[in-house]
Formats: sequence, C-alpha cells, structure tokens
Amino acid sequence: MNIKWNADKYTSDFSFVHKHGLGVTELIEKQGGTAVDLGCGNGALTKVLHDKGFDVIGLDASDEMLEKAKENNPGLEFRKADATDFRLEKPVDLIFSNAVFHWIDREKHPQMLKCVYDALNFGGEFVFEFGGRGNAHKIHSELAKVFAKHGYEYKTKYYFAGVGDYAPLVEQAGFTVRYAALFDRQTELVGENGLEEWIRMFLQFPFSVIKDSAEADEIIAEAVDELKSELYINGKWYADYMRIRMRAVKD
Ligand code: BEZ
Repeated sequence: MNIKWNADKYTSDFSFVHKHGLGVTELIEKQGGTAVDLGCGNGALTKVLHDKGFDVIGLDASDEMLEKAKENNPGLEFRKADATDFRLEKPVDLIFSNAVFHWIDREKHPQMLKCVYDALNFGGEFVFEFGGRGNAHKIHSELAKVFAKHGYEYKTKYYFAGVGDYAPLVEQAGFTVRYAALFDRQTELVGENGLEEWIRMFLQFPFSVIKDSAEADEIIAEAVDELKSELYINGKWYADYMRIRMRAVKD
C-alpha cells in the first residue's frame, strides 16, 4: 500500500506507536547480535534495539521516514527496502517489526515471510506485532456507514490477522511459533482532535476515493461526532486497537 507519510507529524503526535512497541521488544530473548528493524519508520525502536546491544539496520520503504530516522539517530544504519522483497548480504540473528505488517497486502505476506526467513540465521528470532483481527473495528464500521450515506463504498486493504490465520503462515514459511497472542489495546490518542487526526494519518487509502476535500472533512466530522459517545472518555480520545504479537524461531 502506498502511503505518503508525514514523518514530522508521525513523530510528534503518534509517538504512542513506538511507545507501545517497547513491550514488543521485551519478547526478544537474544541478548545481542545482528538485527533488522523491518519497517523502522522514524527509527525510534531501531535505537531501542541498538541500546539493547544489537548491531541493527533499520529498513523502510518511505523516504520521508528514512530521512527522519537518519536525522534522529546519527550513527545508526538505515536503508530503503520493501519488506516483501528484500535480501541481506549476510543473515542476521533477529528480525523485529512493530506496527507494519497490517500495511502489507494479505497476498504478499507469504513472500514477505520468505524474505524474513531467508534473512535470518538458524536459531534466529522473528519478533513482531501488528494490527490484529477486529482492529479499530468501531472506527471502520462507523466510517463505512457515513461513506454509504454519502454514496461511497468504504474499502480498506489493511490486513488485520487473527492468530489462527497468521501462525500457520509463519509456520509454512519454515518458522516454529513459540508465542502468539491477540489482545485488545484501547489506545489513547493525542489532543482534542485526536480521532480526527488519527483518521487523517492512518486512513488515507479509504479516503482516496473522495476527491472533494470539503466532503472528506464532512465525513470525518460526522463519524467523529457519532463515535464520541464510545471513544471519547474522560476528556481523551481512544482508538479501539487489537494487536497480534508473535515470537517465532528459525530452527
Ligand atoms: C493501526 O496501526 O492500528 C492502523 C493502521 C492503519 C489503519 C488502521 C489502523
């Protein structure tokens, strides 16, 4: 999926993405070695992996994000790469990824998992989290209603997998899944316009069918208004996230 990222805004207003990613790094059992942060974004978690003792390379497909990652983390290595089509000159001990795989089209996951498998040493760990089944369901279903009212179809391409879908794919790629979970994570958004900003940042794909920006603004306002009773709690906006996490080993 081609997304035009605003790396500055992502870093200032969506830092909760990498803050939650800290919990994913706790699943890593290796104490050090070589690593890849796949879909490293602004490099915040690449730095965490470095601080944990890994000799790490951040890979990302977005030039804007790579620029930010390099600016924020001088001395760390970042490279442009497509998660579904990358190769390393030398396999690594850990491949880590946070909040990336739901952006990858469902049918491309087997090829991505093959790239990950080929890029790991035997005994290497693959640790990741992404949006799981039911992710942001309240937001998507409200937007689908408002889109329909305006005569549009709400189409998404995000892949929010369940454990029962994804663990078999990871095992078919050759890994042994050692840990897997799907869980709720009601996620606090930033500021009085938190939900509106979140929709503008993350839902560019479904909104691409609406050419009139005033109408897009109206749709967002109507959906936000409807969602207020459920997702605005004690003066704060929340997104109804679900997350899937796994730790798998190439053995
Ligand atoms: C997420 O990070 O949970 C997300 C990304 C894109 C669309 C919806 C949710």
